[in-house]
Amino acid sequence: MTIRTDLDLTDAAAFVRHDAHEFWREVRMSRPVYWHDGNPGFWVVARHADVLACYADAASLSSARGTVLDVLLDGGDSAGGKMLAVTDRPRHRELRNLMLRAFSPRVLGAVESGVRARASRLVARVARRGTFDFATEVAEHIPMNTICDLLSIPEADREKLLRWNKLALSSEDAEADPLDSLEARNEIVGYFMDLARQRRRDPGDDVVSMIATARVGEGPLTLEEVALNCYSLVLGGDESSRVSAICAVKTLAEHPEQWRALRAGSAGIDGAVEEVLRWATPARHFARTATRDLEIGGRHVRAGDIVTLWNTSANNDEEVFDRPRRFDLTRSPNKHLSFGHGPHFCVGAFLGRAELRALLAALVETVDEIEVCGPPTPIYSNFLNGYSSLPVAFR
Ligand code: HEM
Repeated sequence: MTIRTDLDLTDAAAFVRHDAHEFWREVRMSRPVYWHDGNPGFWVVARHADVLACYADAASLSSARGTVLDVLLDGGDSAGGKMLAVTDRPRHRELRNLMLRAFSPRVLGAVESGVRARASRLVARVARRGTFDFATEVAEHIPMNTICDLLSIPEADREKLLRWNKLALSSEDAEADPLDSLEARNEIVGYFMDLARQRRRDPGDDVVSMIATARVGEGPLTLEEVALNCYSLVLGGDESSRVSAICAVKTLAEHPEQWRALRAGSAGIDGAVEEVLRWATPARHFARTATRDLEIGGRHVRAGDIVTLWNTSANNDEEVFDRPRRFDLTRSPNKHLSFGHGPHFCVGAFLGRAELRALLAALVETVDEIEVCGPPTPIYSNFLNGYSSLPVAFR
């Protein structure tokens, strides 16, 4: 792996071929806010303090054109103003209040016990089996089934949703065709349009029915809005949690002293979840578009400019984290930005944390030793960070 100071951040393979942490350390030191050339170019924000301030300033930095660099470079997100993540105030607040109801403690309490039971069952099934792929045998079954339970998605449809989901944002293949990813996104939205129509006619006690029948501001959402917001739950609910779980197991195997501390109880599970989230940083970046001229870290940003906020860098900023490249399950405080910050802070954070908690608890209960048995397969994406396969053995 080579160290570069002029990486092309639009390249899906940039951080597979180059060491992300060496790169970002150099950027934080020498040019913490810089203009990345391109057509169009964009700002790169690397320091924790600047990333935090940008997330908080939703009035100057809009989400409505899109929040993922590739989408913005491609002309913007067609779901802008309709889907929670890509909507600005005041509509964002109305949609967010609706979505927060779907994630109320009453709803999530029931889901959390299901997550714990599922994680224990999956881990017990693979323990003592010899080498297996943790990604496909365990990690991918936890978040997708949790979110599908919440949305009451029929069992028979879950496998195809997972397949579309894997294609939609990231790629397990460096030469992937972007049309496959577009097609997968259209399939998911189409699927939820049909489901929303059905649940509006015959509502149940599930989140799709709730979103489909609620009044938001002036009246009910359009079918397309219902579908897009369900889609964002499936997409947000699956990928980031899946890659965090894979990262948890890989990193614990690579740091046996931390694994022993977790098993012995000298490192607590809640703290471990936060350190895994910081270490994994599943979303490498989120992006915004400036609505007016503003200063970021002393640089002059003009209205209309694209601004990218690099979580990977913020989560390893030496100004905030003592020895950031040390994996320390007892790290405190741990002000990572893996769930973002401010008005768009992840609505699924409670669920994401509950899934990791359930996995770590199941591992501690059942497994003595974790061994990585072969090279993991990296995901080719400048957005999603992690691995799509991880051969391991539990003893
Ligand atoms: C927003 C990360 C799990 C649904 C976000 C944001 C981040 C994030 C960084 C902020 C985006 C921005 O500022 O533009 C993660 C990570 C997860 C996770 C690392 C797991 C480890 C989930 C789950 C769900 C979910 C389980 C759904 C069940 C969403 C939605 C938003 C969001 C709908 C948009 C919120 C808004 O714009 O108001 N997530 N997420 N996420 N996340 Fe998550």
